Amino acid sequence: MNVYDSGTILSDLSILGYKLTDNVKKADLVIINTCTIREKAEQKAFSFLGRMADLKNKKPGLMIAIGGCLAQQEAKNILKRVPFVDIVFGTNVLGRLPALIRQAEKTGETAIDVDMSGKSRSALTIHAKKTPITDYVTIMRGCDNYCTYCVVPYVRGRETSRLPEDVVNEIKIRVKKGMKEVTLLGQNVNSYGKKEGLSSFSELLAMANDIEGLQRIRFTTSHPKDLSLNLIHAFRDLEKLCNHIHLPIQSGSNKILKKMNRKYTREAYLEKIGSLRSVKPDIAITTDMIVGFPGEAESEFAETLDLMKTIEFDGLFAFAYSDRQLAPASSFNDKLEEGVKKERLLKLLDLQKEYTRRKNKAFINKIVTVLVEGPSKKNNSDKPNAISQDLQWTGRTPENKIVNFTLDRTDLSCNDHLLGKLINVRIEKALSNSLKGTPVTDIKGEITYAA
Ligand code: 5AD
Ligand code: SF4
Repeated sequence: MNVYDSGTILSDLSILGYKLTDNVKKADLVIINTCTIREKAEQKAFSFLGRMADLKNKKPGLMIAIGGCLAQQEAKNILKRVPFVDIVFGTNVLGRLPALIRQAEKTGETAIDVDMSGKSRSALTIHAKKTPITDYVTIMRGCDNYCTYCVVPYVRGRETSRLPEDVVNEIKIRVKKGMKEVTLLGQNVNSYGKKEGLSSFSELLAMANDIEGLQRIRFTTSHPKDLSLNLIHAFRDLEKLCNHIHLPIQSGSNKILKKMNRKYTREAYLEKIGSLRSVKPDIAITTDMIVGFPGEAESEFAETLDLMKTIEFDGLFAFAYSDRQLAPASSFNDKLEEGVKKERLLKLLDLQKEYTRRKNKAFINKIVTVLVEGPSKKNNSDKPNAISQDLQWTGRTPENKIVNFTLDRTDLSCNDHLLGKLINVRIEKALSNSLKGTPVTDIKGEITYAA
């Protein structure tokens, strides 16, 4: 969501004449778009702000803006801790940022706007000339679920869905500008439109599936309690919908799930996985897991490990529970020691490593369809000015596995036509977080495209 919001900000500021720089020392304006989902994210934001203080000392005209969830939650505290900040803007006022910048420039005083009362910005104005091959489009904002560990409902507000026609229009505009793959974004996409009586999420997916020129659709994040049969069937019926679902479970223990206010049981989750796999046996399933939730007994953590053995996830984002002041769990008893949380986290990650390795290895010798996203980062970091004989490119399979492949051409421009194309790649090697392969060529040595 923050990445998407940053895109919106960038797009708005380009009208004011601002351009993006990759060297922070050259910047006239630095915007820090913060996240407070976990303690670490918050610490990172404050430590970055500390670095900005040095920069501002050296360059007094530099403007610093802080936005996002931390700004929403801690506006007063921010002013105390980092008084040099010029602008503080909340999650609901993105559209007013250009005016806030002008106000701070004019008055020389900190401009603050963390008003949550208005309707959050929904329609996006798109000014950027180039759109990435794969990008996010938000379909809803906020969350009404109130999981007890989570700060999102308090810093992002109530759940509101965008109109389906707005979403479809935005995708169409982006496709015209070069986007090939869209990830529909929301805290809980499965409840899209319910409150407002709009189209359902599976209907929205069907509309996106009809958009000419769009090649792939993904979505994130789904709440297991709202994963409907219609959505499960969409994986079977919509050819553009990728073969992957991210379905955060958070814990394998019913007692902990209840304390988390997740509103589903381990059994209900397993049943939904069963339905997904009966429709799409090879669907990639990834999840989020929290270890060390207040009161989590060793036996309850063992239930989580056991669930992982039953499901064999393709990938896992695992976190040690951290207190979020606004979230109810922060006042629960039976907090676990940091050492215990860390130990459990390592155990969990260690177990997952084996499944990820196994799942990745299963791709060896298979031909997969890769949407080419661009040269891989490795090219740039190694020798930035050298045009390498073996140029590494990167893309993803429908299962969201990163595939790096090499093209032995010296001319960069002759590879450019591959950007945004679906090509066939034979997988040769499975690494811990990616696959390596070679594009399949025809008898003339030309790369073959997927239909
Ligand atoms: N502590 C640890 N992890 C958390 N998450 C959300 N809140 C917390 C918290 N207080 C994790 C959940 C969620 C992911 C985005 O972050 O797993 O799915
Ligand atoms: Fe947070 Fe739960 Fe909402 Fe996800 S569903 S954003 S974890 S409250």
